[in-house]
Amino acid sequence: MQAMMLVLVLSPVLAFYGGARLPAMRRQAVAPAMAMRTSVIGGNWKMNPTSLEEAISLANAVSKEYDGSKGEAVIFPPFPFLGPVKETIDGSSIHLGAQSIFFEDKGAYTGAVAASMVKSMGCTHVLAGHSERRSIFKDDDMAINRKVLKILEAGMIPVLCIGETKEEYDAKLVESVCAIQLAKDLAGVTAEQMKTIVIAYEPVWAIGTGLVCPADVAQSTHAYIRKKLGDMYSPEVAEEVRIQYGGSVTPDSVDELMSMPDIDGCLVGGASLLADSFVRILNYEEEA
Ligand code: 13P
Repeated sequence: MQAMMLVLVLSPVLAFYGGARLPAMRRQAVAPAMAMRTSVIGGNWKMNPTSLEEAISLANAVSKEYDGSKGEAVIFPPFPFLGPVKETIDGSSIHLGAQSIFFEDKGAYTGAVAASMVKSMGCTHVLAGHSERRSIFKDDDMAINRKVLKILEAGMIPVLCIGETKEEYDAKLVESVCAIQLAKDLAGVTAEQMKTIVIAYEPVWAIGTGLVCPADVAQSTHAYIRKKLGDMYSPEVAEEVRIQYGGSVTPDSVDELMSMPDIDGCLVGGASLLADSFVRILNYEEEA
């Protein structure tokens, strides 16, 4: 009977992980919340690699080498590679994500991709608000908010990226920038939906620069983000939200970052393009 109850309770989780090995739960919140957060590490390939052959070979190597035991792993290939990469990783512990979507359902929007399209390709996660989308493609907070809502409506997990520029960091505006982005980008998101969203804190000055934010500095910003989510929703909801760090994460920096209590994962750019380094990141070792 007890075993049957356990199967009933776990069945949605088992369905999500497709029978692959369940990840270790790494955090137990102190009372009153009983939330446990599963770590989540993403590989954002950006506009790489440049051929389908290379994309399949990278996806193949990562999916063969990672067994899912450390937590949720997601790769975000460019749109044209989603189908073939999905076929390559099928049956493994790696999930498929899209780097963006447009917030309309369908129609005359040349070059755009709808949430339902990437969902039907097998995507479970979608990035929204990445700093490159904000600065190069001019995605503003209103568009990002509409994207977040559309990703939720399609039944996928939004990975909402926020973070300050170098000028804002120097002007000590880190917390206010994060607070404003959270408030605008999450408008209309319910408490239940919020629990499923992943926040990726990516200081813009750390992206692609080799300048990783010191783990203790990142931790204090993550703690602030969680407190802010607590104010916007409730401390219980905030306790369940997973917050990733992104910006020049490598095998050398991942262990210390993942040892921080409010860092629940990483969003990796450059180092996710080399199978060995990404697999080492996925198999992070928390420091004592
Ligand atoms: P890098 O790891 O190359 O700094 O990129 C981080 C990033 O933008 C992930 O979304």
